[in-house]
Amino acid sequence: MKDENANGMQTNDAVENVDVSSATESYAEQNGNTTKKKRGSFTGKIGFVLAAAGSAVGLGNIWRFPYLAAKYGGGIFLLTYIVLAVTFGFVLMIAEIALGRKTGSSAINAFSKLNKKWAFLGVLCAIIPIIILPYYSVIGGWVGKYFTTYITGQGMAAANEGYFNSFISSPWQPLVFFAVFVTIAFLVVLFGVEKGVEKVSKILMPALVLLTIGVTIYTLTMPGTAEGIKYYLLPDFKKFSVKTVLAALGQLFYSMSLAMGIMITYGSYMKKQDKIESSVHQIEVFDTGIAILSGLMIIPAAYTFSGGNPETLGQGPGLMFVALPQVFATFGKVGGGILGALFFALVLFAALTSAISLMETVVSIVIDKFHLSRKKSSLIVYAGTLLLGIPSALGFGVLGKLSIKGMTILDMFDFLSNSVLMPIAALLTCIFIGYIIGCRQITEEIELNGRFKFKKFFNVMIKYICPICIVAILVTSILSAFGVFNI
Ligand code: TRP
Repeated sequence: MKDENANGMQTNDAVENVDVSSATESYAEQNGNTTKKKRGSFTGKIGFVLAAAGSAVGLGNIWRFPYLAAKYGGGIFLLTYIVLAVTFGFVLMIAEIALGRKTGSSAINAFSKLNKKWAFLGVLCAIIPIIILPYYSVIGGWVGKYFTTYITGQGMAAANEGYFNSFISSPWQPLVFFAVFVTIAFLVVLFGVEKGVEKVSKILMPALVLLTIGVTIYTLTMPGTAEGIKYYLLPDFKKFSVKTVLAALGQLFYSMSLAMGIMITYGSYMKKQDKIESSVHQIEVFDTGIAILSGLMIIPAAYTFSGGNPETLGQGPGLMFVALPQVFATFGKVGGGILGALFFALVLFAALTSAISLMETVVSIVIDKFHLSRKKSSLIVYAGTLLLGIPSALGFGVLGKLSIKGMTILDMFDFLSNSVLMPIAALLTCIFIGYIIGCRQITEEIELNGRFKFKKFFNVMIKYICPICIVAILVTSILSAFGVFNI
């Protein structure tokens, strides 16, 4: 299993479903080692879909989607997101997976294999998870803190106003929880106990979904949530702006693990006889479904508790941490305590599996680029993540002054990766496919097994609509950031 991991294999069901005996013909030369090892492949379509969904579903769905939806006007954000998911999301995911399967390489080599001059795009894709991992782990630390709070019987305190703020602004607490979180992820990556983690996640991830459904049903039946449900489900077109689109687009890339080469790596492990198009539909439905459900669990409750202004609750990133403890508190000390402990345990687990797979990705990039051993690479990534995460962890307290236009340091890293670098990587991927190698290379790969129903749509999107829209969104957002005009 180690070899697959060194090649950029993700840690989840993927590893378990790798069937080396039926490996595809491509070799592991992109790893920089000359020993010709056969590249593993997924045993079947279900294995592939579950593995890719495993990477996609994480804090992005449960924590980030609801807070962005609340911040950007509820229903209008939801609608924008869904429209983008079935257009941009579909096209990009299909393109990345086909690119990976065609080249049999992870991102850092896939582009250069098809055109030497485009090696830089592989590097750009590699930078993005390096930026995401540290601040993802800071949020993972927050989840760890809430889990600890509930498990030690202090759940009622967590429902108090100010609990979240006093935690994130404390000088050492966010740091400690962040460091513990990163260390656990590091130990798993180092000792390679992913297999166990995957086995457990097969039980715990469905448990998380079930618990989310349960909590959602409960919050929806709480008195006074009707207004909140309307706020979340009915779009208010007056609240629409370019910023909504930019935020939704960034969230789409983040949530589906797009525009950072992850899906290219996954595609490289997919078998030639499995259908790409229908797999993508399934992954999308899964990922978007869980995001929408999480919004339904958090936003109407937040709407009620904030007196109709969910934008203000927990100042954005804190939404989940402020709204849910209040929901749990309505169950009383014991019931709420158990529910809270269970919920945050499951979220913590989901966050850890995503962080482990992000770390694997970064470690494999270091192995590929610098030809270091797995151990050395893991240590470098561990140290780097700890260092890079410190400013994000302290950005709400000690380093609170270092904010730009109301953005904390964590927000800035998040903005840089999701709203700047990922759209650029997506734009360049479209240009690469539409104009450098030609759409046919991709559509032929998809047509290896059956008709590609959305072929015309795919071609038009990749060549014209996606690039034009992304450029328009980026330019407007940059101009407005410099105050040229207000959107
Ligand atoms: N998509 C994940 C989520 O929704 C976050 C993520 C982004 C990720 N890139 C990744 C997870 C790479 C694993 C690997 O939380």
